[in-house]
Amino acid sequence: MATYTTVLDLGAYNNKLGNVQDYEPRIIPNYISKAKNERRKIFFGDQLYECKDFSGLFYVLPFQKGYLVNWDVQRQLFDYMFNKDFLKVEVSDSNLIITEPQFNFTSIKECLEEILFEEYKFNSICRITTAQLSSWQQKKDKTENHMCCLVVDSGFSFTHIVPVYKGQVLKKGVRRIDVGGKLLTNHLKEIISYRQLHVLDETFVMNQVKEDCCYVTNQFLEDLIITKKKKKENTIAQDYVLPDYTDVKRGFIRSQEDMWTKYTGTSQLLRMNNERFTVPELLFRPSDLGIQQMGIPEAIVDAIESLPLPMHPHFYANVVLTGGNTLLPGFQNRVYTDLRSMAPIEFEVDVHLPKNPVTYAWHGGTVLSAEEDFVQKYCVTKQEYEESGRSICNKKFDSEVYIAL
Ligand SMILES: Nc1ncnc2c1ncn2[C@@H]1O[C@H](COP(=O)(O)OP(=O)(O)OP(=O)(O)O)[C@@H](O)[C@H]1O
Ligand SMILES: [Mg+2]
Repeated sequence: MATYTTVLDLGAYNNKLGNVQDYEPRIIPNYISKAKNERRKIFFGDQLYECKDFSGLFYVLPFQKGYLVNWDVQRQLFDYMFNKDFLKVEVSDSNLIITEPQFNFTSIKECLEEILFEEYKFNSICRITTAQLSSWQQKKDKTENHMCCLVVDSGFSFTHIVPVYKGQVLKKGVRRIDVGGKLLTNHLKEIISYRQLHVLDETFVMNQVKEDCCYVTNQFLEDLIITKKKKKENTIAQDYVLPDYTDVKRGFIRSQEDMWTKYTGTSQLLRMNNERFTVPELLFRPSDLGIQQMGIPEAIVDAIESLPLPMHPHFYANVVLTGGNTLLPGFQNRVYTDLRSMAPIEFEVDVHLPKNPVTYAWHGGTVLSAEEDFVQKYCVTKQEYEESGRSICNKKFDSEVYIAL
């Protein structure tokens, strides 16, 4: 019997890693990076924060288009994270709850299980989706109506709408929108490079600009009119002071009072105007960029309507927002307003934004691990894997739920 349980929410951008006793997980970038000015040095995961100059940062990511494809890189990151000094427990003495994307490929699942059991020798593994873990946390937060939970996970690669019923994903209702944080940052880079300053190589900095300045609007046309006004009447424009890594170590927004006075600093300035809300708008109108898909609220309605009628009110009353993009100011309000106007009037609509939507699923892992007979019910042990091979993993982790229509 293993003594510890470790939860790893494996993300295309950030890993959320910790043992269940930990109060909060560690956020570890899931990539290897190299800085332009420190060429010979390679940073694994969170070693990146030791870097002093983030300009022209170059990344190697194990995930592409939402799926794990570069195993060499992922292995190096696993080596870094599963090290006893880092993890504080011996992996062979630990059960691992690890997340995978929706509709993961069989070859990726097989490879992951093989590596975790045979190379790292975990005592047992539970492979599960992020949405399911979020529903476990939701179950803890909410005492009534916890059987149906509609998880919106807007992360780095995509945005998924996932109906979860009694801890199981209802695959028929899953919707994917091909817009995530990566696309938002890339789009911001492109329009800023076209309109003001060449920043195509500055992904790290532009990601910070996005996180610092962007917001989701509830009144697109009105905001657009404000951005066309002159000087102080334009209450949306912001000046962003870019880092130069000598005087300014991290970029920041100039205060509203200073904004219309002459800038005397040495760093470059970036004027963020309608970019502040037109970029996140892609989550709600992917067609603005030629992606012929529904926006988040329409996709939620479409997902719910594909499910049996008696479930509809329960899902509308239990929408949970998770993933980094949901931190954009105004996100929750917009989803709620749009959804309220689209949902049947007799149904209650509740859109819940957790205190920390990035680590929400990780916390769900700690709730799951406290279930009675957790290992027997939800995990495959190394011994079982050695005796029965892949079939046991298939049976435990990939069995589908069918609901009568
Ligand atoms: N405060 C913020 N405002 C806007 N975007 C943010 C904020 N914080 C994080 N993000 C964005 O969220 C994305 C990462 O989210 P998250 O950690 O949920 O992704 P992930 O789990 O690694 O990816 P995936 O779920 O696609 O595998 C990044 O693109 C990041 O820029
Ligand atoms: Mg994620």
